Amino acid sequence: MIIEPRTRGFICLTSHPTGCAQNVQNQIDYIRQRPTENGPKNVLVIGASTGFGLASRITSAYGSKASTIGVFFEKPPTKGRPASPGWYNSAAFEKQAHKDGLYAKSINGDAFSNEIKTQTLELIKEDLGKIDMLIYSLASPVRTHPDTGERFKSVLKPIGDTFTNNTVDFHTGEVKEISIEPSSDDDIENTIAVMGGEDWQMWIDLLKSENVLAEDFKTVAYSYIGPSLTEAVYRKGTIGAAKDDLEATAFKITDSLKEINGKGYVSVNKALVTQASSAIPVIPLYISLLYKVMKEEGLHEGCIEQIERLFNERLYAEDLQLDDAGRIRIDDWEMRDDIQAKVLKLWQEATTETLPNIGDLEGYKNDFFNLFGFNVDGVNYDKDVDEIVAIPGLQ
Ligand code: NAI
Ligand code: NA
Repeated sequence: MIIEPRTRGFICLTSHPTGCAQNVQNQIDYIRQRPTENGPKNVLVIGASTGFGLASRITSAYGSKASTIGVFFEKPPTKGRPASPGWYNSAAFEKQAHKDGLYAKSINGDAFSNEIKTQTLELIKEDLGKIDMLIYSLASPVRTHPDTGERFKSVLKPIGDTFTNNTVDFHTGEVKEISIEPSSDDDIENTIAVMGGEDWQMWIDLLKSENVLAEDFKTVAYSYIGPSLTEAVYRKGTIGAAKDDLEATAFKITDSLKEINGKGYVSVNKALVTQASSAIPVIPLYISLLYKVMKEEGLHEGCIEQIERLFNERLYAEDLQLDDAGRIRIDDWEMRDDIQAKVLKLWQEATTETLPNIGDLEGYKNDFFNLFGFNVDGVNYDKDVDEIVAIPGLQ
């Protein structure tokens, strides 16, 4: 079929297998040139199909020939209905990895569930024995608690006061003010239940109790801080409360892994266009200004550049450069004073009329469509493609 983008609000309902495959290939090519010395060998990535998790899988596999197991929650294709992009990404990754003699298998299902955890554990035992790295890169709006069956929904709201600021509809380019009502108590707890550290800890507890974590095992989860502009709705909002919980969990994990000299870390990453971040109000306007400034300064990075730097200049360089709160910071370039000062100035000037010039709305849109395999350089979208694509190592 010929597949075209079909959007509804902040989501795109279709995705393109060839474009997704090209995105994956570009990331593989990037990492092939930048190997990791003493990198990981057996890696489990939770949230492995898109964004930072996919980049982590590719960096592990192609930076140090690691065997990778990927866990994700993606929609398979049916006749006439394309899969979600993470499905096509994973298919492309595994096809290439297998060609290159790399072990790569995947599990598609709810990572929060006991069932998927058990299935993953069995696969590790059978195929890898032990893992030396676990990347935790889930972004989900909901979580069903595996023990109680309770279903939690995460929300993006300020805590305390109504938040009012500008945002952009990146499809139309319209800059307008929005107000977001403050959260209730339940919202905070629910968001922590979904995006906080409990599930990460559950994974570690299970894998540790089953003795499949290697000596000197490392685990990393991803967090975000961002500028003062978005603080009320992000870092000091409900999602920030969940990130505080996630960050605290890293220390608990380290404590629980003393016997094997294991370490839990949080890496604070840069703001990037992903399916998760497009849905957060105010962030698209911030990102379009940030991209403009960082591209001008030659400092722009995507997920793969960020994770390559995390592995090669922090985690496996024995040079973590932790901040005061014990976190790895690969948002260092985004947060540079000169970058933030420029973004703040542009923020005050941003209107529907000025944004096309002062911001990188085009770059934002392009990255958004790229997430779904559209607008990818070198892909012929007029060519008929088979929407039914298999993931070769899917369990
Ligand atoms: P993403 O939406 O690209 O990836 C989410 C991944 O989680 C996908 O692989 C998806 O299949 C998987 N997933 C979602 N629900 C699942 C479930 N129930 N079971 C199994 N897999 C599931 O998101 P992105 O942006 O890569 O986010 C990953 C982490 O990075 C998040 O913790 C996010 O807060 C953090 N981060 C994101 C930043 C951004 O600007 N996008 C910046 C800094 C941190
Ligand atoms: Na991810």
